[in-house]
Amino acid sequence: MADRVVRPLAAKYDRLQEYPWEIRDALAEAGLFGTWIPKEFGGGGGGVLDLCLVVEELSRACGGVGVLFAVNALGSFPILLSGTDEQKHKYLEPIAKGEKLIAFGLSERPAGSDASGLITSAVEDGDEWVLNGSKKWTTNGGAADIYSVFAVTDPNSRSRRISAIIVEKGDPGFEIGRAEDKMGIRCVPVVELHFDGCRVPKDRLLGGRPGLGFKHAMMTLDRARPGVAAQAVGLAAGALEYATVYATQRKQFGAAISSFQMIQQMLADMASRVEAGRQLVHAAARACDAGVPQLTKMAALSKLFATDMAMQVTTDAVQIFGGYGYMKDYPIEKFMRDAKITQIYEGTNQVQRLVIARNLIKESGKLDHLSAFIPLPDHPNTLDDQARAERASPGA
Ligand code: CAA
Repeated sequence: MADRVVRPLAAKYDRLQEYPWEIRDALAEAGLFGTWIPKEFGGGGGGVLDLCLVVEELSRACGGVGVLFAVNALGSFPILLSGTDEQKHKYLEPIAKGEKLIAFGLSERPAGSDASGLITSAVEDGDEWVLNGSKKWTTNGGAADIYSVFAVTDPNSRSRRISAIIVEKGDPGFEIGRAEDKMGIRCVPVVELHFDGCRVPKDRLLGGRPGLGFKHAMMTLDRARPGVAAQAVGLAAGALEYATVYATQRKQFGAAISSFQMIQQMLADMASRVEAGRQLVHAAARACDAGVPQLTKMAALSKLFATDMAMQVTTDAVQIFGGYGYMKDYPIEKFMRDAKITQIYEGTNQVQRLVIARNLIKESGKLDHLSAFIPLPDHPNTLDDQARAERASPGA
């Protein structure tokens, strides 16, 4: 599918910056939009690992199509994690068939990395929720029919401030705002969403209980971040393939540049990094599917490593193409442009480091038995003290 349908159209939609509906139709026909959705809700019954395998393959051909697909998982995970059975049937079934697309509305102008600082509000009024505010960086916005939107429902609560509410295209007071002009992933729209007294029925509150939105947003990101990492692995693998083929064809000094050791070293380093990233993504995806306690850390590790790796590998691929690589006539510069966003969205790599470090520190409680081997500076019997005593009176 990636080679037959996506690759031939990648440059066209990058240039046009338009949603590739023909690719969406082909993916829907192949049943791929149900990959991560349980069979009882019309999906294929796969998990995060299956999602990652598909995203990697699509991204090898076009990073924009990789996210165009993966972002539907990001949008539907809040429903899967916290929706009622009725909500799951209503929203997941058309998503699984590829009939409806979904987007995820968390970030706002004042609340990017500081996601819990969001200010869009939802107030109960009779049988409805009334939403006011705006969302920023909503990938798939405008193309999507369904939106998982996070809003403040209890401004006075610290831990139960935010709830997730479904907003549908056409709801009164809901408008799609400015579409961004982007460096990469140009075939998928990234827009602002505006809610101006937007009224939705009360049963759109996910799970029917307010206050759990932030937790569910974080749990969603845990399961979606390996998908971004898979997009990065796909981009890096695709760039490596192009660079390898180019190196065997391009002749300089009377020989294919692939015969030069400096190029061989670059290709070998790129290949080892891609494979390391891929294995980490699979391990993180399996951790998510198994629901192990370390899944938050694993997801962040995979996103951090794979996306930094993709930036490096795609940049090296451009280097192997030389001056030609810098030109839009060649497919390789797009890989570098598409890779950059993977270090930024679904939590910057600075946020991933924060998540990893917080979890390492939390887990260190299980390593108490190591304390006995670590002399602390303020401990009366440190090795240092012993060494000093030994120096003062040798052999004593
Ligand atoms: N799973 C479950 N619960 C979690 C959790 C997790 N992974 N992480 C945090 N929580 C819970 C905590 O236990 C805590 O609960 P209590 O209040 O009951 O104790 C609560 O959530 C608050 O947690 P923190 O104190 O850790 O929250 P924080 O304000 O310090 O934020 C953060 C932590 C990691 C920085 C978080 O805000 C974050 O991940 N920021 C990045 C947001 C992000 O990724 N945005 C991207 C949006 S999607 C996008 O890019 C656009 C697109 O369309 C592709």
